[in-house]
Amino acid sequence: MLNEKEKLEQIINLGLEITKVKDVDILLERILTFARQFVNADAGSVYIKEDGKLKFSYTQNETLQKKLPSGKKLIYSTFSVPIDNKSISGYVADTGEMLNIPNGYKLTENVPYSFDKHFDEISNYRTQSLLTFPLKTNRGNVIGVLQMINAQDNAGNVIPFAKEDEPFIMHFANNAAIAIERALMTRDIILRMIKMSELHDPKETGAHANRVASYAVEIYENWASRRGIFQEEIEKNKDILRMAAMLHDVGKVAISDVILKKPAKLNLDEVEIIKMHTYLGSRLFADQHSDFDKSAFLVVLNHHERWDGKGYPGHINPMTGNPISGYEDKNGKAQGKKGEEIPTFGRFVAIADVYDALSCRRVYKEAWDETKVLETLKEEAGKHFDPEMIESFFSILDVIRTIAKRYPDE
Ligand code: C2E
Ligand code: SIN
Ligand code: SIN
Ligand code: SIN
Ligand code: FE
Ligand code: FE
Repeated sequence: MLNEKEKLEQIINLGLEITKVKDVDILLERILTFARQFVNADAGSVYIKEDGKLKFSYTQNETLQKKLPSGKKLIYSTFSVPIDNKSISGYVADTGEMLNIPNGYKLTENVPYSFDKHFDEISNYRTQSLLTFPLKTNRGNVIGVLQMINAQDNAGNVIPFAKEDEPFIMHFANNAAIAIERALMTRDIILRMIKMSELHDPKETGAHANRVASYAVEIYENWASRRGIFQEEIEKNKDILRMAAMLHDVGKVAISDVILKKPAKLNLDEVEIIKMHTYLGSRLFADQHSDFDKSAFLVVLNHHERWDGKGYPGHINPMTGNPISGYEDKNGKAQGKKGEEIPTFGRFVAIADVYDALSCRRVYKEAWDETKVLETLKEEAGKHFDPEMIESFFSILDVIRTIAKRYPDE
């Protein structure tokens, strides 16, 4: 057990650690992991305020996780609860007060809220202790709720949450709220950039960007853990990959909407113009101030390269669009990048982007049914796509499907 001073140090360090995370989805995951570790909670959830309601946004559950085969993730669906005093989370969001409840099934008579048994019933889990606290910014706005479930002693028995931990966790929640508020703002700015391409290309919606980004991150995570990459490295890369992938098609702002909205097959000239969206977009990140700039540059430039070398734009100088000398083919055009010449982030996003494009309707095509989409991805392993990454894709197909549900087209 940690003493007070060690606890204080730990909570300050965790608070600093989360300020490094930029993408809001990745941030919620980190916040929950850290908070659970700190109070030794078996499970937990984050709710974020959205349109006047609390949206159940992320959850973890060690006990349920352990029942899954290794490498599998817990599948959950999102839902919203009203901000009122009827539920525990709603009460906390409404009043801004923390609740430390020893047993959700044995609430005292005179409280306005009741415990919602629904989650336990569908997941075959037994909630007992709940520590629920508001995510309150410096200005006192509640932007969400963090709920810890089932504190455990060293022997793994469920116990109430320790009263002594409350001030520490409130401090952490304050840091978490500030970090979430900033990450939500970053997400908003990215979505606005995408809206500009949406004016040209009605399919480049925020939902498409979010799906492609989340798919790419999940494929990456599976691939990276199979390769034994350190968790810390994985966490850092997930964050920058997620943001970079959202922007993969940002270069379409530079392409005429006459072409992008054409409800038919493109002719050869039009195809050549579309291809420019890769390097034109990458120029936005040519001034590389951060890891994010570097990754966004690589994703935008390389998301249409193909494993077999038949993709585009190939070995070019993105500033001029001309082939790099020595890489011209017999027609004087740039040779495509091939296999591991293609930066890894470009290869992840290629799979995510095509999977989403085929699964959805476009101005120029209908949505394909899932069987056909999956057959195509399988066939294209080693041709369009990195075969090892396609393996990762198929091993997390259940997660991929829930992402599509989390970010539906409007
Ligand atoms: P996008 O719609 O986001 O599609 C991304 C990629 O998904 C495509 O890259 C392609 O690899 C794959 N894909 C999408 N739909 C199909 C399909 O029906 N069949 C097959 N085999 N693959 C598909 P690609 O081809 O380099 O296209 C890049 C972008 O160019 C597309 O992004 C879209 O904005 C535009 N585009 C491509 N073909 C057409 C077309 O026939 N008509 C129009 N209006 N736009 C097109
Ligand atoms: C609630 O906050 O009311 C939900 C608690 C839970 O079901 O875990
Ligand atoms: C990275 O930026 O860490 C990965 C670069 C890449 O290969 O895409
Ligand atoms: C692709 O190559 O991008 C999709 C597979 C196909 O060409 O049918
Ligand atoms: Fe593209
Ligand atoms: Fe796309």
